Amino acid sequence: MIKEDKKIITKIKELKKKHNAIILAHNYQLPEVQDIADFRGDSLELSRIAAKTEAGVIVFCGVYFMAETASILSPDKMVIMPDVSAGCPMASMMSAQDLRKLKAEHPGAVAVGYVNTSAAVKAELDYCCTSTNAVAVINALKDKKEIIFIPDKYLADYVSKKSGRKLISWHGFCPTHVKILPEDLKREKKFHPRAKVMVHPECLAAVVSLADVVLSTSQMAKYVKDDPAKEFIIGTESGLLYRLKQDNPDKEFYSASERAVCPNMKRTTQEKVLWALEELKDEVRVSDQIRIKARLAIDRMLEII
Ligand code: 13P
Ligand code: SF4
Repeated sequence: MIKEDKKIITKIKELKKKHNAIILAHNYQLPEVQDIADFRGDSLELSRIAAKTEAGVIVFCGVYFMAETASILSPDKMVIMPDVSAGCPMASMMSAQDLRKLKAEHPGAVAVGYVNTSAAVKAELDYCCTSTNAVAVINALKDKKEIIFIPDKYLADYVSKKSGRKLISWHGFCPTHVKILPEDLKREKKFHPRAKVMVHPECLAAVVSLADVVLSTSQMAKYVKDDPAKEFIIGTESGLLYRLKQDNPDKEFYSASERAVCPNMKRTTQEKVLWALEELKDEVRVSDQIRIKARLAIDRMLEII
């Protein structure tokens, strides 16, 4: 590590202590950000930590909807983002007005939404879910006749196949995960015939159908540790490979596609984390009116799993 990096890390540690702050990082963050995080995880794990932390300040290294979710769960805490322009294109593909319209077209349907949505959209939902628990949430709604599932059409397709339920979906998608193509998996499988193929459910249906397992990012991290296989082809955003290699130095990981990089997840750097702690900004706050309604959907999810 070069001297300058060490200085930044020391300053970050001092400021964390001074402000009683914790750093949460999503599994897709740059290695330098994962290295300074108190916790790294998937959307569900980070939500749970945000809900129960004793810290006064949460530095959220991820994308905007994740920081909003942390603020919804911990309204008395200050949630700051080192780069507040890091958004999620999938979350931007559906507005609260779009969802209200869809609900009006299907009166009586229960509305389930992926956590990759704005707080305003969450306020219109009955249930929230993440990629870890989406199938479990739908399975818990056996008595509901019609289910709206937004915004990701590929996650909806996967959940529908797994649960056997017909879902009313939206046309959202993740621009990063759709870059992973079936031919990428076929090519990597040819190069690494013994490798197990793991993909995220945000991938194209044709990619999902070629995988050995379909998992959220932290489920992948757990699976790799427990599985006897020594090689894995990873069909998700490339940031996860750093964590996988760190946790399993004796195993090999191959990215399914070099193009699977989410530019928004890469906006946060160590330097920006330092500046955020120095200036205690940019703060992400959700208005009470939206927060109270959005919280209900998240709490209902947390009660299920
Ligand atoms: P998970 O980490 O919850 O699997 O989510 C993936 C993702 O794309 C988040 O934006
Ligand atoms: Fe959004 Fe996809 Fe980036 Fe996740 S990887 S933050 S879903 S654009």
